[in-house]
Amino acid sequence: MKRLLSGIQPTGIITLGNYLGAIKNFVKLQNELEDIDFLVFIADLHAITIPQDPQALRKNIKSLAAVYIACGLDPSKVHLFIQSEVLEHAELGYMMQCIGGIGELERMTQYKDKKKRHVEGVTTALLTYPCLMAADILLYDTNIVPVGEDQKQHLELTRDLAIRFNSKFGDTFVVPEPYIADKGARIMSLIDPTKKMSKSDPNHKAYIGILDDINQIKNKIKGAVTDLDGTVKYDEENKPGISNLMSIYSCMTGLSYEDIEAKYNGKGYAEFKTDLAEIVINEIKPIQEKYNELINSKELDEILDNGRDYATYLARKKMAKVRNRFGIGRKIK
Ligand code: TYM
Repeated sequence: MKRLLSGIQPTGIITLGNYLGAIKNFVKLQNELEDIDFLVFIADLHAITIPQDPQALRKNIKSLAAVYIACGLDPSKVHLFIQSEVLEHAELGYMMQCIGGIGELERMTQYKDKKKRHVEGVTTALLTYPCLMAADILLYDTNIVPVGEDQKQHLELTRDLAIRFNSKFGDTFVVPEPYIADKGARIMSLIDPTKKMSKSDPNHKAYIGILDDINQIKNKIKGAVTDLDGTVKYDEENKPGISNLMSIYSCMTGLSYEDIEAKYNGKGYAEFKTDLAEIVINEIKPIQEKYNELINSKELDEILDNGRDYATYLARKKMAKVRNRFGIGRKIK
């Protein structure tokens, strides 16, 4: 049996980047792989590494749970839980800080980017964040971690920490592998296609939210930055705008870039964008309908309770072993 695990931060908007880079793959893996144990969580401890409004955060946690299920995660196949409800994440996160070096944390690209954006008050946790992420993964003997491209560096650090711990204290952790899909792993901003599509972008035209109003989605796609050449051709370097839209198109339809180029040969960007908007809306509309059914249902709490109980069971067993390895506390037989 292989164990899979992944998480998303509940920081408000869930973007098309999160959907195509992460959630859509979770659903695919859930449906296609056999003999797996799949844990998916809401990374609320990660969210508080930057200031959050407590009321909004609570709402966003529930909202992300509903989004996961509305997008197709099946609670009978996937254990869905909230990170902070399994206390061992924070404990192992601290231990990972005890074996992680400041130098390797300071090298993390995401830390460097976030540090630039949050000039007043960079918290300690923003720096130690990858140690908590390593803990999330190693706590469950995870084999495979499906993520978008931007998490690759954090996964490499997780592997380094696991190998370091194992060689110092004896075989304890499974060394995990990232699963990064060929397409959709890096969806770019609609107004600056050289930057990643990010929910923290101050300009809301830069991203599509999974829960955006349908008309808003249409307008955002229509207004997406392209180039003056007007040919639908995949060329990331010279035509990053249309290439990004083509990658969204391809993820949603399964068509290759060559198929898309042939389909729009001799046609302009306007027609391509109209079709893309329709494709995106057709996929997102049923998700929104399901989300609205779920958001205030009791079902959601039951799912999260079950997920928490299962994750706690695994985490407690693992932490007893890790504490013994470190030699802290008294030996548990
Ligand atoms: P987060 O919340 O920033 O993003 C969640 C997932 O969405 C992917 N993603 C994207 N994929 C393609 N294009 C984009 N523009 C895009 N933006 C985001 C991310 O790669 C990610 O897979 N640290 C993580 C959450 C986390 C985690 C974990 C993940 C905490 N612990 C353990 C896996 C395993 C994060 O902040 O993701």
